[in-house]
Amino acid sequence: MKIRLLSISALALGLVLALPATPALAQAAATGQLRSPDVIYVPTPPEVVAAMLKVAKVGPGDVIYDLGSGDGRIVIAAVKDFGAARGTGIDIDPQRIKEANANAATNKVTDKVRFLNQDLFTTNLSEATVISLYLLPSLNLKLRPKLMAELKPGTRIVSHAFDMGDWAPEQTLDVDGRKVYFWTIPKR
Ligand SMILES: C[S@@+](CC[C@H](N)C(=O)[O-])C[C@H]1O[C@@H](n2cnc3c(N)ncnc32)[C@H](O)[C@@H]1O
Repeated sequence: MKIRLLSISALALGLVLALPATPALAQAAATGQLRSPDVIYVPTPPEVVAAMLKVAKVGPGDVIYDLGSGDGRIVIAAVKDFGAARGTGIDIDPQRIKEANANAATNKVTDKVRFLNQDLFTTNLSEATVISLYLLPSLNLKLRPKLMAELKPGTRIVSHAFDMGDWAPEQTLDVDGRKVYFWTIPKR
């Protein structure tokens, strides 16, 4: 009897430990999401996407990674309109990954792009030659050491709306009132 009570308590404890601790985590678990996003989905307007890819001089030799890729528009435009060799979009929200894959199919670029349902802070970025961002000031700052450590010198970084604190951009654009910042990973 004592053993049975003990095993019931252990099971109850296991269930409690397995339960998500917050409503956001509960929702993430219910939708198959890894964890709740660090920033909500807001798409970059097409003219800003074009300006970002232009300032980063995206072309045939490039492998672009969009960190928090939403509906995939930046990666798709990079291969379709700027001739990038390949593109990878990373998004933590599986719904965004579905949308991006559907958009890649509509635009007939599925052979050149892939969308990964991952946390951008744990994805290996080392093969990228261009990184695009539309996150938050705090997330750019959190990401900065990872970019510096993993990316090859000469890799270009372009960010919609948010800078990198005291890392001064090489170029800043104003596109219809929206800021675009551009940096290059320096030599080590
Ligand atoms: C502001 S939207 C930008 C979408 C797209 N890059 C664009 O410019 O149109 C930010 C995206 O980041 C995703 N996101 C938030 N936190 C993330 C994380 N830790 N890892 C991967 N994606 C994340 C969100 O799901 C959302 O789709």
